[in-house]
Amino acid sequence: MQADIDRIIVSRDRIAARIREMADAVGEWYGNSEQGLIIVAILSGAIIFVADLIRRLPMKMKIGLITVSSYHGSRSRPAQIVYSSHVDVTGRDVLIVDDILDTGQTLRLVLAELARQGPASLRTCVLLRKPDKAPPDLKPDLVGFDVEDVFVVGYGLDYNGHYRNFPDIAVLKPGLCPTYRPMV
Ligand code: IMP
Ligand code: MG
Repeated sequence: MQADIDRIIVSRDRIAARIREMADAVGEWYGNSEQGLIIVAILSGAIIFVADLIRRLPMKMKIGLITVSSYHGSRSRPAQIVYSSHVDVTGRDVLIVDDILDTGQTLRLVLAELARQGPASLRTCVLLRKPDKAPPDLKPDLVGFDVEDVFVVGYGLDYNGHYRNFPDIAVLKPGLCPTYRPMV
């Protein structure tokens, strides 16, 4: 796996430090929430991020899981929710957590679906954002890092299902980078 990596763009130490700050922000928002927070993580990319984030949260919380299939940029095959663990978010404080905000299709879809269920509040948190691509009208409440518009892997993010277990966020060597990337 290491041999496929060209360069690291966000190291594990920077990720850990930023997650401490992000958990503090989430704690300030929801620390007094009576019923506790519901975190909805978007699978599979957010698995490692959400696992690290929630272990730093002091308040009661539950977790919901949603899988979105996406075919990047394809209009004929829009993003779709293909799995949901069906946590009831009606009247609850909800924080959506995803690995990366790219075109925004995924986050928009999950936001719309959860908004439909009438949560008390709804916020979004992403570890990474590609500011060149992210639509200006879709602003997550919390962003870990803005990154250049390159395909990144590691810390949960994959290419063709691989590299999720790489501990840093990295760019693959030229030639190994995808031009087409169907993923969930
Ligand atoms: P969006 O719907 O275009 O915003 O894409 C969001 C989803 O695509 C994320 O949840 C990721 O799973 C995936 N994705 C976008 N960019 C990358 C990348 O650079 N590396 C790996 N996955 C990515
Ligand atoms: Mg994803």
